[in-house]
Amino acid sequence: MKVTQSRIISRRCLLGSAAALSVAARSLAAEDHPPPFVPTPMPIVRQMLQFGGLKRNEYLFDAGSGDGRIVIVAAKEFGAESVGVEYNHELVVESRNRIRQAGIEKRARIIEGDLFAQDYSRADVVTVYLLPATNRRLRPLLERQLKTGARVVANDFPMEGWEPDTTLNVEDDGSGQSRTLFLYRR
Ligand SMILES: C[S@@+](CC[C@H](N)C(=O)[O-])C[C@H]1O[C@@H](n2cnc3c(N)ncnc32)[C@H](O)[C@@H]1O
Repeated sequence: MKVTQSRIISRRCLLGSAAALSVAARSLAAEDHPPPFVPTPMPIVRQMLQFGGLKRNEYLFDAGSGDGRIVIVAAKEFGAESVGVEYNHELVVESRNRIRQAGIEKRARIIEGDLFAQDYSRADVVTVYLLPATNRRLRPLLERQLKTGARVVANDFPMEGWEPDTTLNVEDDGSGQSRTLFLYRR
């Protein structure tokens, strides 16, 4: 991914297409506002993983994994080895239950912890659906750790300061909302 000086921030993103997260985005002027749990709609989950070019046996890392849906689809439908990190205990329990019910414990797991304290160096694809301030803080960690060829797919909120390789505008995310996906390649 190419690091640029420019701030690739889209006003549309801040005002948000995903209604719930955009409410948080508005109050996010409070720079340290943590991203709330707002699940990515299922059709977008699949689109994010396809957009990131996730392949069988590749390693997927979802930073802030919520109910585990990205981790589960990555393992179950894409044949990836997948890991999520989530700091909300209830969501960790829920996502681990869902992984168990899907019978994919060998390929998918959830770390209970802070996404800023993880090792992303094995990742082939990292997915993020976070707020701009969180993306800003995560960016230097990814720059230090990601291997060549790794991809980052950002849902609706870009990684400011990186120039996306490609963007994908989704007119209807399944709930009548539009959103943009951003793909970055290391
Ligand atoms: C917008 S939700 C996205 C959930 C999931 N990735 C998806 O796309 O459906 C963001 C998630 O990040 C989690 N999160 C926010 N800050 C975090 C942090 N510092 N460490 C771990 N998880 C965090 C929140 O609890 C929430 O579940």
